[in-house]
Amino acid sequence: MAKKIVVIPGDGIGKEITDSAVAVLKKADEKYGLGLEYEYHDAGGTAYDKFGVPLPETTLEACKAADGVLFGAVGGDKWDNVEPSLRPEKAILGLRKGLGLYANLRPVKVADALVEYSPLKPELVRGVDLVIVRELVGGIYFGDRCESEIKDGHERAWDLENYSVPEVERITKLAFETAKLRRGKVTSVDKANVLATSRLWRRTVAKVAEGYPDVELGNLYVDNCAMQLAVRPTQFDVIVTGNLFGDILSDEAAVVGGSIGMMPSASIGECTSLYEPIHGSAPDIAGKGIANPMGTVLSAAMLLRYSLHEEEAARAIEKAVDKTLEDGFRTPDLWKEGFTKVGTEEATKVICDRV
Ligand code: NAD
Ligand code: IPM
Ligand code: MN
Repeated sequence: MAKKIVVIPGDGIGKEITDSAVAVLKKADEKYGLGLEYEYHDAGGTAYDKFGVPLPETTLEACKAADGVLFGAVGGDKWDNVEPSLRPEKAILGLRKGLGLYANLRPVKVADALVEYSPLKPELVRGVDLVIVRELVGGIYFGDRCESEIKDGHERAWDLENYSVPEVERITKLAFETAKLRRGKVTSVDKANVLATSRLWRRTVAKVAEGYPDVELGNLYVDNCAMQLAVRPTQFDVIVTGNLFGDILSDEAAVVGGSIGMMPSASIGECTSLYEPIHGSAPDIAGKGIANPMGTVLSAAMLLRYSLHEEEAARAIEKAVDKTLEDGFRTPDLWKEGFTKVGTEEATKVICDRV
């Protein structure tokens, strides 16, 4: 039976990088007989321009009916002044909520060929292999907010952070299950020295941990975690954290691996899973044909693995990306003297040849 993949290019470099990932998927399909079909849908600023909303109902419904969703990126300066509820970013937030995608897995594995590219010293990044498990449909992102009110004669705005025990339990269980399949270590990250939500988070994580005697649990405050990622990133196996902290720490963790353009993610939950690179629409390089497509290509590999259980094809794509780097091909974000500089399309061809 055919497997339906909904592709949402979005804005900025979104089209370039999803075109690349689909080309690689087609190559894998030829080789492994995956039977993939593609259906394209709009979201973000592109959808706002066409339909007046960032997430058309038809896009969400198509995602619900699909076997997997491949998402590019949304956003851009052009839409900076639209009404907050219609911003392009509302598309990805609406998809996460609408599909019940409560967990976002963001793996960071530093390819040997990229050890020299990290802004950190090679001896610090060699062997880094961690995954950030980010809570994705709760916390301050989805709490009540007020854009503007007058209090005591001054304009103010506010956003409410809140977490319930079941919300923390389900993401924590997923983090522990993930750790069981890896090196058996979970680091929970919070700000329990200041925030009530973090204290509830820490208590709940400790209770869930009782059911996993073989997994080691550590707690870190988020400020210290940000520092530890820079001084000794190899200490981490699974990091579990809330929505806002997970957003911030994952950009930091991504560059440990050389470039934000390399980092894939899988969002899983109650309905169809969604796969997207962690970076944004990169307006500064959009349309130039130089975006690094590897984060999106590796997201497509995660789609094959988790949604379609096509492990062999997923691994072939991951190996092709590694080989591309080993063979010296670099998009400008990773290029140095002595290597072959390639644009998005050329990088895609090189990856396809190696699948
Ligand atoms: P960004 O991730 O788009 O870009 C940050 C920097 O990284 C830029 O210099 C960019 O050129 C570079 N970069 C990002 N991806 C790259 C790639 N694949 N190859 C080479 N270089 C790459 O973050 P930003 O500039 O803060 O945000 C731009 C827009 O994207 C905003 O509207 C933001 O809200 C949105 N955004 C969307 C998503 C998403 O759709 N999931 C994620 C993050 C940001
Ligand atoms: C990400 C992005 C999104 C987030 C934005 C675009 C809403 O930064 O996926 O990391 O904050 O979750
Ligand atoms: Mn982010």
